[in-house]
Amino acid sequence: MTLPPGPVDAQNARLNARFFGRSPLDFLSHLSNTFGDVSSFDLGAGPIVFVHDADLVRTLFRFHEADLRKPVFLRDSNAGHWGDGLTTLDDPETWRARRQLLLPLFRASLRAPRLSVAAELAEAITARWQDGEPIDLVHEVRVLISRIALRTVLDADLEGHSDGHGRSGLVPYLEGYGEDFTATMGSGERAVQMTRPRAPSNMDGVLAIIRARFDSFVDRGDVLSALVKAHQMAPEVLSKQDVVSEIIQMLFAGHLTMPSALTHFWYDIARYGLDRKLAHEATTLNNAERLSIATLGTSRTMAILRESMRLTPPAPILYREVARGFRVREYQLDEGLGVWVCPGLLHRDPRYFSQPSEFQPNRFATGRIPPVSAKAYMPFGAGPRVCIAAAQSLSQMAVIIQSIARNFELKPVSGTTNQFDVLRRPGAQNYRNS
Ligand code: HEM
Repeated sequence: MTLPPGPVDAQNARLNARFFGRSPLDFLSHLSNTFGDVSSFDLGAGPIVFVHDADLVRTLFRFHEADLRKPVFLRDSNAGHWGDGLTTLDDPETWRARRQLLLPLFRASLRAPRLSVAAELAEAITARWQDGEPIDLVHEVRVLISRIALRTVLDADLEGHSDGHGRSGLVPYLEGYGEDFTATMGSGERAVQMTRPRAPSNMDGVLAIIRARFDSFVDRGDVLSALVKAHQMAPEVLSKQDVVSEIIQMLFAGHLTMPSALTHFWYDIARYGLDRKLAHEATTLNNAERLSIATLGTSRTMAILRESMRLTPPAPILYREVARGFRVREYQLDEGLGVWVCPGLLHRDPRYFSQPSEFQPNRFATGRIPPVSAKAYMPFGAGPRVCIAAAQSLSQMAVIIQSIARNFELKPVSGTTNQFDVLRRPGAQNYRNS
């Protein structure tokens, strides 16, 4: 196999790993600037091909997803102590059947009621914020996302945070909030580490709720009810164990990405002086509009959020490895080869976005994004394995943002990470009394 040009010899691996560990995006940017749109490198765990051409990325994800698989370090981060769910399933047939089964859970008619849950819980969490005091925004949002996930997936709530809902019970804090897991690529001096939240090994509280639902079924309108019904209808397609794995991945799938997107959003609001415009929209939409998928989709809030996710996508690199050798363009990609794509760089490439380092939410005003940009914009991935919850996540984040922006201005505390001062707006209201 002839690899694309790049520092792929094993003796470069230590230097590559050091450079990558310091700044992954600078390393990948250096590769594409030096070696072109398709290059190769090694971090100490075998050769990796880096693809930095939007058309080729779309071809790979659209037509060759079945020839690719998720690498072990990624599977360890996602599945952890538990079985494979949609994110980590590799066998193309099993994955396709599972995707078909889960897709209906994300249709618009089911997404809409989940927006009220997001608004209600955002309000409950912000009600505890003290005017003038700093908060750790990543932590606050992660608690919020945990509670939204527990409510919509299990009809449960988080121990220590519930205000009385949790109809299926309260889930111990660590089971809802998760553990931080550090995945390692390569070994020794050449190791590269990445930390992300995942389910801990002890999920007894969650398992008890799942077991109780199997033993005596009550349709609570949550994801668990839908999966228990799917199991009862076709146990050979979805076993009880599959239900457990799927529920556990679903609980944690948004734990890294949503807090990351929302925290960067607020940094951008402060950096680009957009608070007044944000507050104006958040305070002028009426309650029905604020919870309408259509209104949110065309809102200024959404345009700012999409632009923020362009400059700082929560999943800046997408990782695959070749499961079954194939040919694409002039390249033969053999089994075991890593294949990486970097939305974080595609989103800043002047071939795809004019004035790419400018913050211009108007790019995303309805119908404005030109096809050349659309093909490179992939904060939720691309192809058949695109995020199954993309539409739901965007509208939930917009609701959360507006629930917060309505009542508070958030100002980053300089010299800190993720700390924001909370400033209550005069005449702040919540949903119930507006
Ligand atoms: C800001 C929020 C989110 C972002 C930016 C995001 C991003 C992504 C990306 C980039 C992928 C593709 C990964 C790859 O190709 O390797 C993905 C897949 C996935 N996401 Fe999300 N995600 C978000 C929220 C969520 C939430 C809240 C859930 C669960 C309710 C979720 C469930 C999934 C699942 C199940 C997959 C795997 C789909 C498949 O392989 O068929 N995501 N997400």
